[in-house]
Amino acid sequence: MKYSIITFGCRVNQADSLELEQALLVNGASPASSDQADLVVVNTCSVTASADQGARQTIRRIARANPSARIVVTGCYATRRPGEVSDLPNVAQVVANDDKPRLIQLLRSPSAFTTTAERFGDGEGPCGAGIEPGMAGRTAYTLRVQTGCAEPCTYCIIPSTRGRPRSVPVEEVLGEVRRVAAAGFREIALTGVHLGSYGRDLTPASSLCGLLRALAAFSHVDDGQARVRFRISSLEPMDCSREVVALVADHACFASHFHLPLQHASNRVLDAMRRPYTLAQYAELVDGIRTRIPDASIGSDIIVGFPGETDEDFQQLSSYLEGSPLTHVHVFPYSDRSGTAASAMTGKVPGTTVRERARLLRGISEQLAARFRASQIGTVQQGLTLEDGLLAVTSNYLKVRIAAGRARNEWVAVRITGTEGPTLTGEIG
Ligand code: F3S
Repeated sequence: MKYSIITFGCRVNQADSLELEQALLVNGASPASSDQADLVVVNTCSVTASADQGARQTIRRIARANPSARIVVTGCYATRRPGEVSDLPNVAQVVANDDKPRLIQLLRSPSAFTTTAERFGDGEGPCGAGIEPGMAGRTAYTLRVQTGCAEPCTYCIIPSTRGRPRSVPVEEVLGEVRRVAAAGFREIALTGVHLGSYGRDLTPASSLCGLLRALAAFSHVDDGQARVRFRISSLEPMDCSREVVALVADHACFASHFHLPLQHASNRVLDAMRRPYTLAQYAELVDGIRTRIPDASIGSDIIVGFPGETDEDFQQLSSYLEGSPLTHVHVFPYSDRSGTAASAMTGKVPGTTVRERARLLRGISEQLAARFRASQIGTVQQGLTLEDGLLAVTSNYLKVRIAAGRARNEWVAVRITGTEGPTLTGEIG
């Protein structure tokens, strides 16, 4: 049985897809392109209207190119609009996010998806195929330690697609980390829908810092080279405490990389978004990180064109970004999601204005990224080789081109020597 998994959206979806893939491999299935596969899983996102549209287009394209494929659709769009999804061609099953664990069980079972014509792994039974770096094209493993969100951000649809916050107990996370490290992975991205709320729902309650301390203890070895490098994915600014910053600064096992969604730099807009911080608090946080960890990569997300955003609000946003220590910014044009509080707000910004503002902010983001790359020339960074060994990703999230001679997934000390467009060049030494 040949399968293909197509993933849209965030790292949480990537982590979910990895779990689905492992279940299929255990069941003796083998990866193939979506045009060749017997089963295609489409793991969807619904964060914007274009995410929904992308999923619909992909499903229609697969149905045309590979009419005999069974298409299983899961993820946030499937959770939010199951009827719309099941009406698309060749969709055999629609699985809500909450039912993903059941889908994983189903895909693991030798009798999964029994049809008159075939069953998964027919005649072979579970082959016990393991996981390894490079699986799903990725050198790092993405591990979901939490899901769900109860925050009231007025623009966001995610609480309705991911449910209440639920954390994976620390011991279970450590068990997964041991398994993934034993399989040869050297970098693990920790992810969650609201990662900063990690542990609050557990009994006894825990916290993100508690988890990070346990991971640091696991990864610590005496020669200075951590067993595994952990990359903390997107963290809400209010959850990135001094203690989190100190843990990252003090332990080599944590990548010098933060992703802290600001969303807007006008306090008026932040208030309308119901984000629980001001620009001054955010600026203090990122300035503090820059002082404590001078080489850190600090990314952010911005929503442009939120209802009621004036020229003055936009001006505040662009001038803050220009002078900020941020190193890259993902710009999201506001997308109206029915059912959210923002969707009912007045003062919608015309599409042409939103697109123009987004274009200007993307230009600023490119300048910030180029400035950061240039600032790193001459430094030595710990890198992990990717793909065919010609690229390394550094602790501070830069891609550096290196000479041939290394395999994928090796630690290297890279001296950064120059830039080549968005990629840096470096020497191993
Ligand atoms: Fe998209 Fe759902 Fe992630 S809406 S961003 S896949 S939580």
